[in-house]
Amino acid sequence: MRYLIGIDIGTSATKTILMDEQGKVLAQASMAYPMEQPQNGWAEQNPEDWVRASVETIKKVIADAGIDGNAVKGIGLSGQMHGLVMLDENGRLIRSSIIWCDQRSHEQLEEMRRCLPYEKWLEITANPPIAAWTAAKLLWVRRHEKENYDRCRHILLPKDYVRYCLTGEFATEVSDASGMQLLDVEHRCWSKEVLEALEIDEGLLANVYESQEITGYLKPEIARECGLSVKCAVVGGSADNAGAALGSGVVMDGDAFTTIGTSAVVYTAMDHYTPIPEGGLHLCCSSVPGAWFTMGGPQAAGLSVEWFKEKFCHALKEEAAESGKKVFELINEKVGRIEPGSERLIYLPFLMGERTPHMNPKCRGAFVGLNTVHGDAHMLRAIMEGITYSLADCNDILKNLGVEVKEMRVCGGGSRNPVWRQIMADLYGCDVLTLCQEEGPAYGVALLAGVGTGIFDDIRTAAKNMAGISGVTHPVQAEREVYQKYHKIYNQIYEHLKSDFDDLFNLA
Ligand code: XUL
Repeated sequence: MRYLIGIDIGTSATKTILMDEQGKVLAQASMAYPMEQPQNGWAEQNPEDWVRASVETIKKVIADAGIDGNAVKGIGLSGQMHGLVMLDENGRLIRSSIIWCDQRSHEQLEEMRRCLPYEKWLEITANPPIAAWTAAKLLWVRRHEKENYDRCRHILLPKDYVRYCLTGEFATEVSDASGMQLLDVEHRCWSKEVLEALEIDEGLLANVYESQEITGYLKPEIARECGLSVKCAVVGGSADNAGAALGSGVVMDGDAFTTIGTSAVVYTAMDHYTPIPEGGLHLCCSSVPGAWFTMGGPQAAGLSVEWFKEKFCHALKEEAAESGKKVFELINEKVGRIEPGSERLIYLPFLMGERTPHMNPKCRGAFVGLNTVHGDAHMLRAIMEGITYSLADCNDILKNLGVEVKEMRVCGGGSRNPVWRQIMADLYGCDVLTLCQEEGPAYGVALLAGVGTGIFDDIRTAAKNMAGISGVTHPVQAEREVYQKYHKIYNQIYEHLKSDFDDLFNLA
């Protein structure tokens, strides 16, 4: 029997799975690490944490499955997108990574627009200049930490730094590279025009592969430490959302899924390169060769729930401990007793500013409509509803372009909550399908490793064959009508508060 490993370098943890050549998961492991927020709107992580978590979880899945590590033929890497990792000439880290949800680079947007007209950005990178994407972060470092910029010889995305530590290769792949805003997304290669306009040396960038291609093999010392063979291949892998698509079987034109992790994303597969007018949704290369995808959604999804639980739900945590329940089990029970609309309470999920659909790094979170009847359960439900209004806004952009999603698959931690699945079904107005396989991105990139090493023939067939449906949630018409009214007000509130968010942001 041959085996494959999939590793997802997430924001809260790294999750690793070991699968056999039939696609059966034999073991999984995860290891958590912190995110630092040195200032309002900033977010950083230590890349060494990702590497340690990857190595430790590989060791754990091999030990738990009790297999011979020499039979592991390939590894796929998936990871949080857009993060900036900078290395010096000796391949050493220059600073901690400025990660995807960091919004400090808002000033660099103007510089980007000065260097290239807005339409050119859309034409080449398929997206308007975005503060949270890698190019803007790099320009921020050049402007504010010139010494670090001058020492930099390699720029890598989070999972690609892990690849470098595992294999010694500087490589990336098209899905994640799309989120750097330096890629020609239609032609799937670095854009000389963008690099020249920004005066960024192409030599800083890694080689770009298709997601299923082999990018290198394990270094002897890593193979030894993990109990694997030096013949174990590491394939390109995926951006986390592109990997989750494969793990969810979302590979045919028009297929869609929603993932709710630290961020939430509604993702739609596309066979043709079709730029989105105004850039209201992100458009990136898919991990399926010759295909693309759109995605949009709130940056602070699970992050909002986690923030609220940790900062304000001490009583709820005590109640969970006393009753022997898990905190999330108790949260799910409590939010399930609140009616749709959370008794006239609306949450705007913009804790970390927002990208799609607003492209506004300056906005922030808000609860509107608070009253003394409201308690923690109302606020938690309002958070779930607010996140879903934002997802539905992104899905509506596609609908307005004539792409009607017929059913929505779901994955990620938030999708385990039946109340949240109902909210999604009601707001999307279509069936929401849960999957037998829950570790979306790690599973998806293990499949890519299988294609790269010749175990599977092609990624579309492998992904379609492996993704089983475990349940369906249908929309409820009466609830849909309630949510439509709330959703309208949610959008009005953002419009009303927009200039106040600017004023607040600009306070010294
Ligand atoms: C997508 C995005 C997030 C991260 C973190 O654009 O920034 O989904 O990939 O998971």
